[in-house]
Amino acid sequence: MDADGDRDEGRATDPARVLADGGQPEWYRDAVVYSLDVKTFQDSDGDGWGDFRGLIDRLDYLEELGVDCLWIRPFYPSPLRDNGYDVADYRDVDSRYGSLDAFDALVDAMDERGMRLITDLVLNHTSTEHEWFQRAREDPDSKYHDYYLWTSHLDDAYHTTNIFPEFEDGVWSYDEVADKHYFHQFYNHQPDLNVANPDVQEELFSIAEFWLERGVDGFRIDAAHPMVLPKGHNAHQMDDPQWLFRELKRRAREVKDDAVLLAEADDEPDKLDFYFAGGEAFDALFNFVGNSHVTYGVGVEDTWPLHRMFEQIPDAQPDGHVWWANFLRNHDEWNLLKLPHEALEHAREFFREGHGDGRDSWIFGRGHRLRLADLYDGDHDRIAMAHSLLLSLPGTPILFSGDEIGMHADLDLPERQAVRTPMRWDDDEPNAGFSSADPEDLVLPVDGTGWPGVFQADAASQRGVDGSLFERVADATDARAESPEVARGEFAVVDTGPKEVWAHRFDHDGTTLVVVHNFADDPREVTVDVDAAADLERVLGAADYRVGDGDVTVALDGCDYLWLRDE
Ligand code: NOJ
Repeated sequence: MDADGDRDEGRATDPARVLADGGQPEWYRDAVVYSLDVKTFQDSDGDGWGDFRGLIDRLDYLEELGVDCLWIRPFYPSPLRDNGYDVADYRDVDSRYGSLDAFDALVDAMDERGMRLITDLVLNHTSTEHEWFQRAREDPDSKYHDYYLWTSHLDDAYHTTNIFPEFEDGVWSYDEVADKHYFHQFYNHQPDLNVANPDVQEELFSIAEFWLERGVDGFRIDAAHPMVLPKGHNAHQMDDPQWLFRELKRRAREVKDDAVLLAEADDEPDKLDFYFAGGEAFDALFNFVGNSHVTYGVGVEDTWPLHRMFEQIPDAQPDGHVWWANFLRNHDEWNLLKLPHEALEHAREFFREGHGDGRDSWIFGRGHRLRLADLYDGDHDRIAMAHSLLLSLPGTPILFSGDEIGMHADLDLPERQAVRTPMRWDDDEPNAGFSSADPEDLVLPVDGTGWPGVFQADAASQRGVDGSLFERVADATDARAESPEVARGEFAVVDTGPKEVWAHRFDHDGTTLVVVHNFADDPREVTVDVDAAADLERVLGAADYRVGDGDVTVALDGCDYLWLRDE
């Protein structure tokens, strides 16, 4: 986007773009983000593990889909007991995915295409295999001992619920070498860092600087909420926990003046403002309230959850500091805790798969380890409509790798691995084109079956095929790219009448964008109040419409959608 709000030539965000008035970087507000795991995206050397070279080879695909920015999950050396969120060395690349040189090559290749790169920073905890922890346990007098939180008096220590309750009894585990218990909010192999310790803080800031200097454009800060919760024997909390994030931002911006911080902060809606710190901390927050409500609403053909979501979350305004990273699914369980209790109970059974056969999709007492295609019974029309909705919501859309072709979960795999199987490029190739390795050597099995009777998707059969899910998602990313109103306009919900039809509008710079989505399986005709000229521009969707006096009537098929612009 240039200073006049006109879209630049080409699909990708211009990395050289000047900062907007007030010095706030805006590139992330216009971006379409795609999240992926390097190890399951594309293997280039036949060892069964996806790697950076493989990802570089697939950038064409991502550009074709209309992606401007990648968020890649942790790629650091790790024992991989939590998918890489158990970091053993923050300043290197796991050799199974390549090397620092290969990482640099990715940065260069993305730069050439004007694509941005966000990486995951896990600052709440390390792996027990991290050198800091090894030194901490071996020597109570070493400075590393105070990088973590210990107790010798478990009975008097602070106890709270572990975030993985199915696997961990609590937040303390005994370490034989230290002869003490250490504090961990996640798995026992992920000891919490003592983030109140200034030495730890300095380490964390300098890790961020290291990667920014290597060319990344920002970070997804993992577990931002647990970072600032009470920790350790005395349930210690920093006097000014927000400072940690403000300072991280300040340090990051010193290296790169448009670096972006994105928080994974699944906190209560009325606490979310804390993470923005009036614009001085996070630039965007994952919209967890939106994730449960939107994906649920589309699945149960009802718009009440969207109304509730907008009532709960702070308003994203074009010139304000509140900004959402919206998503339909991610690489974790589909967490339903933000739904009202009754809806959570309903969603638990309504979407449940594998119940009774030992492959239950319900996990951690709060969500389903299922992909969007499972939640929507493999219905590509519904998945396409959900993506159109996602791309039209106020905030930055984040696509989850594989959902754009309708990949299914594999419930034979343990825990959240069900939704993390390798990308299915081409059914006609070994391992669906992900790798030439022996299937036994693959990082995770390529799932070929899907649910009984359900089509398991690949990319090859959809690319360039009119009306395929891939092409429909790509059309929706195009629509987003051609609609500066979404990131820049004033948002308002529009009343439609039927409970299955959702409409909203953005007003920006003399234009109005109206988008209408039908969550129902069968047709709906709605009349929405918009003062529109007779010759509206059709931005996306094929539905018929007619302009009346102060309103527009839209005839939508089941799972249909329409974006219209009035200039
Ligand atoms: C959130 C990540 O998304 C999840 O995959 C991970 O297990 C936890 N944080 C712990 O790092």
